[in-house]
Amino acid sequence: EKGGWSSFMAKEISEEPEAVGNTILGRTHDGLVHLEELAPIGDAALKDVDRIVIIACGTAAYAGMLGKYAIEQWARIPVDVELSHEFRYRDPILSDRTLVISISQSGETMDTLMAVKYAMASGAHVLSVCNTQGATIPRESHAVVYTHAGPEVAVASTKAFVAQVTALYLIGLHLAAVRGTLDEAAHRSAVDELASVPAKISEVLEVSQAEIGQLARWMTETQSVLFLGRHVGFPVALEGALKLKELAYIHAEGFAAGELKHGPIALIEPGQVVFVIVPSPRDPSSLHPKVVSNIQEIRARGARVIAIAEKGDAAVLPFADEVIPIPLAGSLFEPLLAVVPLHIFGMELAAAKGLDVDQPRNLAKSVTVE
Ligand code: BG6
Repeated sequence: EKGGWSSFMAKEISEEPEAVGNTILGRTHDGLVHLEELAPIGDAALKDVDRIVIIACGTAAYAGMLGKYAIEQWARIPVDVELSHEFRYRDPILSDRTLVISISQSGETMDTLMAVKYAMASGAHVLSVCNTQGATIPRESHAVVYTHAGPEVAVASTKAFVAQVTALYLIGLHLAAVRGTLDEAAHRSAVDELASVPAKISEVLEVSQAEIGQLARWMTETQSVLFLGRHVGFPVALEGALKLKELAYIHAEGFAAGELKHGPIALIEPGQVVFVIVPSPRDPSSLHPKVVSNIQEIRARGARVIAIAEKGDAAVLPFADEVIPIPLAGSLFEPLLAVVPLHIFGMELAAAKGLDVDQPRNLAKSVTVE
């Protein structure tokens, strides 16, 4: 039931805080993550893993990309992210030291199911992240970590995405604990950061809804939108672009901001709308000034820049046409906040164009053919 919302998607975006909160619930003990669901694989095998391959399609694959940053940083295991439908067609190198993690909201996506079956047959350990109890993919896997986003009806995934990222972060922390790669204080502070995400998403929803609605109503004639992000902002850019394609039927592309000068900058002409996901100025890496200088470069060529930036980030103000503020968070946790305005934007632009937000043309919620 839509319960007063204009669409299932509007309702589901409003449920993003709970999707994260409920996915964390019961999975921490004394401030540390422990996933009982991983017992079928077992600590000895998890200690022995030398490589992780994440397989998924669409939005779930972008969640997987974020999982890569977190798992590599915390558990120090190399992670590859592969589209399910590419995975098994090139004789991938798997062993009993490989952990394959599948991600699927529905648990029925045929491309991902076939990849899971292939991984099982090859002797790898297979863990699935799924939002649907008892679905086929978790039944075909060694272990499952359910996301608790609640049923998702709108075809384009929103609350399941943030829940998937949350589950992957929990898996990263569990692996780090098993392998002793993260000191306890850092583990606790990551858990605190994650626990603070739901309230911060609520703040983003409150602050950005009206501004983005207005932005979308101005953009109903727009033909092309670009999204730029760097490090964990890159998968967010890809996700923002996918939502615009799926929902508003607008040609949209997400780029790694560092790649701009290697090609995409040629696309910038006066009036081109570019969303930029800006890293925190507090981040110890030097990415913030680099992304700000990307903004200056595209602005100088006439782009219309919409920056998603930490609130109080004064450096972007002179160069952005619009700034959508997000609360302060550690860099791995920013994507869970920055993605929210992009979900709203895709939905609002589709609605402003008079399109069916929940049932975009040509798409199905779960694709059960290969
Ligand atoms: C696509 C949907 O068909 O399948 C996407 O349009 C979704 O929104 C993708 O991300 C994967 O679906 P699932 O159920 O495997 O997560």
